[in-house]
Amino acid sequence: MTELLWDGKYKDGKKQGPVRIALPFQTIETVNESAQERQQRLEVFASGRKTGWRNRLIWGDNKYVLPSLLPEFAGRIDLIYIDPPFSTGQDFSYLATIPDYERTSQDEDAITFVKEPSILEQKAYRDTWGKGLDSYLQMMFERLTLMRELLSERGSIYVHVDWRLNAPLRLIMDEVFSPENFMCQIIWKRSSIRKAASNKWLSVDDIILVATKTREYTFNTVYIPYSEEYKKRFTEKDERGYYYWIDIGTYSEDRLAKLKAEGRVRFSKDPRAHPRFKHYLHEGKGVQPDNVWTDIVPINSQAKEDTGYDTQKPEALLDRILRASSNEGDLVLDCFSGSGTAAAVAEKLNRRWIICDLSRFAIHTARKRLLTIPGIKPFVVQNLGKYERQAWQMAEFPANGENRLEEQRQREAAYRTFVLDLYHARVVSGNGWLHGVKSGRMVYVGAVDAPVTLPDVKAIARETWKAVGGKESGISKAGADILGWEFAFELNELAKQVAAESRIDVAFKKIPREVLDKKAVDQGDIRFFELGALSLQVKQKGRDVTLSLTDFAIPIDDIPDDARKAIKHFSQLIDYWAVDWDFKNDTFHNQWQSYRTRKEPKIKMESTYTYSEPGKYLVVVKVIDILGNDTTKTVEVEIK
Ligand SMILES: C[S@@+](CC[C@H](N)C(=O)[O-])C[C@H]1O[C@@H](n2cnc3c(N)ncnc32)[C@H](O)[C@@H]1O
Repeated sequence: MTELLWDGKYKDGKKQGPVRIALPFQTIETVNESAQERQQRLEVFASGRKTGWRNRLIWGDNKYVLPSLLPEFAGRIDLIYIDPPFSTGQDFSYLATIPDYERTSQDEDAITFVKEPSILEQKAYRDTWGKGLDSYLQMMFERLTLMRELLSERGSIYVHVDWRLNAPLRLIMDEVFSPENFMCQIIWKRSSIRKAASNKWLSVDDIILVATKTREYTFNTVYIPYSEEYKKRFTEKDERGYYYWIDIGTYSEDRLAKLKAEGRVRFSKDPRAHPRFKHYLHEGKGVQPDNVWTDIVPINSQAKEDTGYDTQKPEALLDRILRASSNEGDLVLDCFSGSGTAAAVAEKLNRRWIICDLSRFAIHTARKRLLTIPGIKPFVVQNLGKYERQAWQMAEFPANGENRLEEQRQREAAYRTFVLDLYHARVVSGNGWLHGVKSGRMVYVGAVDAPVTLPDVKAIARETWKAVGGKESGISKAGADILGWEFAFELNELAKQVAAESRIDVAFKKIPREVLDKKAVDQGDIRFFELGALSLQVKQKGRDVTLSLTDFAIPIDDIPDDARKAIKHFSQLIDYWAVDWDFKNDTFHNQWQSYRTRKEPKIKMESTYTYSEPGKYLVVVKVIDILGNDTTKTVEVEIK
């Protein structure tokens, strides 16, 4: 077999395969599940039985997501569509928008600015393109190897590429799927831009390489409407409609008898000639497309489905692929999902779906897009959360203690020193809850695998006070910075209030995901942002509870100076917010949400809910800002 070689494919004579750690997924949000379904699922879960299927939107690098899907989905995915990044420049930066305050219609005055890639996204970019085409091909080889394992025996894969990568990827697909399983390449005419004289042929095509797992694969004939040119042939008309006479070709006696009975047959004087029959326009199903697709227009800013995501592909393209290579109920995967086109189409065609993207902005765009589909089935948003961090801690901080407990202690100490160092804090020892000190404030470093909770804050406040010398110190107020990967829901003003009562000023800061990346740590200045601050007003009237957003602040460093000037009101920073009216300590459920879209840039600032039963309820509000970061806040309401 012909084999493509690239730098890094072999090491010591051995082909380098993909990473194969399988990490468990964490559900961070459940979208669109009714209160009744939620209750049923909680009961099924409590009984130890398996809960039913939920479509999945996964935020993470597919390098880890694909191997983590293997234990559950090896041989069970029916169709994979991927559209990996192939234009080297614009992979991870995107246009963020500050909506114009007070405008309600198409927002022409909105200010946009380029949100540069996060360090994590830059890392993926380096992983992919760090060594140019060689590293890109290795990345694709590894991913395709895992995708083949995920495909079912009747499954197919569609790989969307452009003219720059078509040739090497075709060879890699042959290597992974074998040449016999290569079905064809589809040429999609993606552009009809007419440029003036140029010194070369314009490339207006994208290529979609299609392979199957075996020779027995799902394939349904799809039809597209007749062209106007073809329709012109139907020149005659009777009471049934437009038709033209056509040679009957091969036919059975029954068919001929039926056509005759309908008065649709004409015999020639020449006995050797076939009879002709009336071929009606309305009876044709359309034409079966070949592998050159010129009838699907690319997304433009006027398109109804436009989400503003740079590389978004048209739904019509995915619609054709999904109809041909999957059936209702089948499972579709896209692990470079961008704005979520594959999931949107799978949802509309009644297929199940799993999609994944590394970019926080992509996940947010896809979530909003999916929510606009009427009757969308509930889905979950997942990531690898603490498991990714645990795996990182194990790999980065080796230990050699006498027993496992001692090893764990060493690892945690090394991890905390590492984080304190990045935070430019000095390590202090001898305290259970305080790990460092910076500019006169005590510093706590949250564990990799647990959120910071209210009891933690109480203990930190107590120890901070002790550390500064207690009552005798003469100090009136002490400060503590609490660094955490995650913060428990109840941790908002309540925690600050509790701490303030003990005369401690606390600041909650998120440990950024970039910390997981050694190279990013070496290169960049890691920033710990304070949690976004959200203020709410709650009004109660009988069983009606009305929540209004009254203030919101995010760290502004990420917004360039000139864009900052456009912010006149806090609401311009909010892109989306959702409410779980009855949080049950499971996952956050979007029971209500309001968000901006390109066509509908206005967002509501108030939401009302009517409780059917008296009781105490925990209400969780989740806000996603214009940069895709989320902030949650909890309030308790009591219905009498
Ligand atoms: C060309 S876009 C896909 C666009 C998509 N087909 C659509 O219709 O919106 C490629 C996507 O791959 C994502 N991506 C790149 N490297 C990735 C990785 N290692 N893991 C997961 N997603 C990745 C990027 O964030 C980007 O959204």
